Amino acid sequence: MTRQKLIDTARALLANYKGLLAMDESTETCNKRFAKAGIPQTEEARRAYRELIVTTPGLADSINGAILYDETIHQKTKDGTPFVKVLTDAGIIPGIKVDMGAKDLALFPGEKVTEGLDGLRTRLKAYVEMGARFAKWRAVITIGDGIPTLGCIEANAHALARYAALCQEADVVPIIEPEVLMDGTHSLEACRAATEEVLHHVFEALHAQRVMLEGMILKPNMVLPGLASPKQESVDEVADATVETFLRTVPAAVPGIAFLSGGQSGELASARLNAMNVRFKSRLPWVLTFSYSRAIQQPALDIWRGEEANVAAAQQALYHRAALNRAARCGDYNAAMEKP
Ligand code: 13P
Repeated sequence: MTRQKLIDTARALLANYKGLLAMDESTETCNKRFAKAGIPQTEEARRAYRELIVTTPGLADSINGAILYDETIHQKTKDGTPFVKVLTDAGIIPGIKVDMGAKDLALFPGEKVTEGLDGLRTRLKAYVEMGARFAKWRAVITIGDGIPTLGCIEANAHALARYAALCQEADVVPIIEPEVLMDGTHSLEACRAATEEVLHHVFEALHAQRVMLEGMILKPNMVLPGLASPKQESVDEVADATVETFLRTVPAAVPGIAFLSGGQSGELASARLNAMNVRFKSRLPWVLTFSYSRAIQQPALDIWRGEEANVAAAQQALYHRAALNRAARCGDYNAAMEKP
């Protein structure tokens, strides 16, 4: 582990008021989104879509790092240039999702634990050789009747910490993603309680596994009411509940928090991030930015529909959504900017 290298990479990922782009959907998830949009679920369609993303002109104006999936990190543009080279040449740092997905947690009905620690040291080495400088591991926590349980929270926190330690050993910055899902009818208060509990356990596990906080990035959910909850709090109420939760749980040594969007609309994901940066500007010990997938990509995917003729318009939509989130990272976003 080279302490300074990790610190430098983490800082570079958060620099210049930019954020991260998650484009690490597994083949299964990508195919599901393609099926919904009427796009063929083939390796070539996935490659073409990822080429559209990485070759978006000016993407680096708003994006410091892109999280890839195993299939994608091996892929190339039509003219044979590896995606990793396209990104690096544009000034975007390539990262890689290394978890093997959330699986049913034995004896805990309705709960998941993320797998992928076996052989991770070897896989990290190979990804570093391909050019990856940071990684991602997503843990999934569900709110429901009697869940999340302590057993589930501890299992996921431990796996996140083991993953993070293996990353830092390899000079790879770990993005640590404990996601409390927004599916369900639960209240904002239930999400606040679950998120706070999860983050306490995650940082306890990171400490126990000797993870260097200055060389990591947290990728959490915002504190939100369930998607199907009858009560939907205002943008400012969500911003306050979210930042208050992090001020209680995330050590100041952590350089940055980069949110997942988790199924929020693009507009809400921007507005809520913006409100946090406006309302807590002088009180934040860490950078508050974005690491969105759906909340950046969705309009582009809807426009593209698998047609070569739509590539330029889709790229413009992707650029626009990324730029709006950069504005939100600065506290400069407003709804009028939604019009291209
Ligand atoms: P969403 O922004 O679509 O939630 O995706 C972020 C991510 O990386 C999920 O693991």
